[in-house]
Amino acid sequence: MKTITTLLAACLAVFAAGNCLGADARHGKLLFASPTLGGGTSGKTCLTCHEHGRDFSPETLSRKQYLVMGNPVASLAGVVNFCIEVALRGEGIAENGKEMNDLLAYLAIFIKANSGEPQ
Ligand code: HEC
Repeated sequence: MKTITTLLAACLAVFAAGNCLGADARHGKLLFASPTLGGGTSGKTCLTCHEHGRDFSPETLSRKQYLVMGNPVASLAGVVNFCIEVALRGEGIAENGKEMNDLLAYLAIFIKANSGEPQ
């Protein structure tokens, strides 16, 4: 999984396009703003807390270990699911599934756009 995430991030860093390795960043953008992602019940979306890239940095895409709200999490997909479970109050989505891939594809573009890096 880590390899796929890294590959996806690297691929996006190079192409920064809406579509890469079959991932659809435009769909990811919709998921990022969806309160029902993972069956969310809190009414919050990823954008609620991470608007303008808050809590994100370019390192977000490549950390070996994440610390989210004091909890160590091993992968980017794991962090996404952590936020879905704790913040959206939903259930984690499949780490290798299409929704996760699309979301991660958009996340790469979103983070670059909000960190002032060329896209
Ligand atoms: C209720 C607010 C909230 C919502 C909603 C939320 N998050 Fe988070 N997220 C956080 C907080 C707080 C952190 C950790 C910041 C810290 O502890 O330094 C975090 C961390 C992260 C990180 C890791 C950043 C880093 O560099 O370590 C990612 C990636 C992330 N969130 C993605 C998402 C995604 C995708 C969604 C939507 C499914 C989402 N978040 C929804 C609050 C939220």
